[in-house]
This record gives sequence, structure tokens and C-alpha cells, in this order.
Amino acid sequence: MSDLKNIPATLIPGDGIGPEITEATLMALDALAVPFVWDRQVAGAAGVTACGDPLPQACLDSIRKTQLALKGPLETPIGGGYRSSNVRLREEFKLYANLRPAKTLIPGGRFDNIDLVMVRENNEGLYMGYEHFIPIDGDPHAVGMSTGINTRQGCRRICRFAFDYVIRKGRKKVTVVHKANIMKALTGIFLETAREIYAAEYKDKFILDEIIVDACAMKLIMNPWQFDVLVTTNLFGDILSDEIAGLVGGLGMAPGANIGEHAAIFEAVHGSAPDIAGKGIANPIALMLAAAMMLDHVGLADKAGQLRKAIDATLNIDNVRTGDLGGKAGTQEFTAALVQRIKQG
Ligand code: NAI
Repeated sequence: MSDLKNIPATLIPGDGIGPEITEATLMALDALAVPFVWDRQVAGAAGVTACGDPLPQACLDSIRKTQLALKGPLETPIGGGYRSSNVRLREEFKLYANLRPAKTLIPGGRFDNIDLVMVRENNEGLYMGYEHFIPIDGDPHAVGMSTGINTRQGCRRICRFAFDYVIRKGRKKVTVVHKANIMKALTGIFLETAREIYAAEYKDKFILDEIIVDACAMKLIMNPWQFDVLVTTNLFGDILSDEIAGLVGGLGMAPGANIGEHAAIFEAVHGSAPDIAGKGIANPIALMLAAAMMLDHVGLADKAGQLRKAIDATLNIDNVRTGDLGGKAGTQEFTAALVQRIKQG
């Protein structure tokens, strides 16, 4: 592989199961002889433990330099404590597009032949952190308030990203998911912008459909095959992408990419899974598929294809699967079988 140029990239193993699935992913990438030169950094709870900061400056500096990162899940305290390092990373590097493909890898399950892509707006909406409590009568949390913000510019940017993606990938339909019947301003602007851009720039290149988020959640279960690419605002995208992951075998199978103009961070959709951390049973496939997206991103589509093919063979020919997929293999056993497959070519 000496003909491949070195590609500097930041590696954040993350919290909980993060280090286990990161190690597994690195073994797969090593077997593929990909030319990433990793700069290891910490963030999240590991950042707090190592240097008292959930998003250390060294980590930010590294990503600013490499513009490319593979990231394990980062823990966020619930209901208090520091703000999510994931959200802050997406803000810091203006990673406005969150791309989450979900494809059936194990045939014959409850839902077969799923091939959906969620494009989630990643920087705006209800995730901006404009929140506060109002104390009344000695109750410091008597009222909880949150303000969501969607801008015309932000809506245009994500809709164009989704529409261009559909054309590039030869897909057929985009469904805009909204709640413009109730949140007429916050998600109304999103729907309005999608319609405008489609009419002005993309008409007849693919079908544009629209659906209210609650109906979308139901239809994804009743008939997911009617969808192709979905584009939506931040919170709806977060929730629906976990639902979509459920259609293809759960969170262990769902990769994601956070993409901006000057940087891209690849990760699994799932979190740090504290309930199974350290037990050696986590499914590393989601992070491996995120690494495959990263290989596509840097122009190594052949390596990405090799990795996906080896995952397919390990699952469906060797029948080596982790517990979340109904198998008996641990993370290491699955990874060893996968590496074997990669080496066989
Ligand atoms: P989670 O995604 O960590 O876990 C949900 C369920 O799925 C758990 O039962 C877990 O065991 C299972 N699961 C997740 N990944 C798995 C895998 N690879 N293999 C097998 N089973 C798997 O969600 P949860 O528990 O709500 O969040 C835990 C922590 O992760 C929180 O601190 C949260 O803020 C953080 N988080 C971080 C994300 C990120 O870094 N992008 C995304 C989502 C959550």
C-alpha cells in the first residue's frame, strides 16, 4: 500500500464501549492497510478524567489541523453538568450535515431490504442550548424554557446538501419531515425553504415529498420501504435516526457522518452504552461502518467497499454475530473473524 498517501486523522476513542469498538475498528483498518496516521485525543468523560475538560483544546486543535476525525461515543451527563461535547464539536467545526444511512445487513429479519438515509440538520433547531429555568416560590426549576432557532441560511444549506446527495447517489425521492402544522415558524421555515429550493433548482431531478414527523414515525414502522432519503431538523433527525437504526438490527448497525465545509467527523449513531461497557460484548459494526464512510469521504471507496464486504461475509457466511444481533460472539471474536475475512480479500 506504499502508493497510498498518508492521511492525518484525529482519533477519539471516547467513553464507555468507545475504546473497545475503536480498538476493533483499528484492527479492521490495519488489516485493510489504510493510510490513516492517527492523532489520538480524548474528550467527553475521558477528557474530564485526563485533564478536567470534556472538550480539551488539544482535541480541538488536532481536528482543526487534520479536518478529519473518527470518534467513539462521548458521555453527556443527563439533566445537568457540562454541555454535550458531541454538540459542541458539531458547532465548533460547523458540521451542519449529519448523514445517517441505514441498510439491512442481515437478511430475513423483521424488516428486510431496508435502504434509507437520514439527513439531519446538525447545528440549529432545539439543540442550540438556549435554555433556562425560571425559579418561582423557592423552586429553582419551577419553569423550564428552551428556544429553538432555524435560519433560512441553515435550512437552505442542509436542503441543498440532501438534494445534491440524492442526485450524486442516483436516489429517487426526498421526504421532508416537519411539524409545520404546530411549530409554524420553527419547522415551517424548514418546509418552506425545502419547497422553494426544490422548485427553483431541483425540480424533476427527483421526487420531493413531505410528511409530519409523528406520521413519519408511524409509517417508518408500517411501511419503511416507501421512504428513500429523509431530510429534517435537528431533534426530529436525532429521534428518527434511532428508529431507523431499529429497522436494520439496532444501534450496533448504524453509522453516522458529521460533515461541514472544513471538517468531517465520523461516528456511530449510538452512545457509550454504559450498561455493557467493559464486558467485551459491544457490537463494533456501527463504528466500522462509520470508518467505511470516512474512507469514502477521503476517496478510498475501494477500501470502504472491501470493509463492507468483509462485514457482510462475517455476518452472513461465517455467521459470527454479537449478542445484540442474536449471536454469541464477543467484540474480539467478531473482530478476529472480520480481520480473517479482510485478509482473504
Ligand atoms: P446508547 O446508544 O449508549 O445505548 C442504548 C442501548 O443500546 C443500550 O442498551 C446499549 O447497551 C445498546 N447499544 C448501544 N450501542 C451498542 C453496541 N455497539 N452494541 C450493542 N449494544 C449497543 O444510549 P444511552 O444509554 O441513551 O446513552 C449513553 C450515553 O451516551 C449518554 O451519556 C449519552 O449522552 C451518550 N451518547 C453519545 C452519543 C455520541 O457520542 N454521538 C450519541 C448518543 C448518546
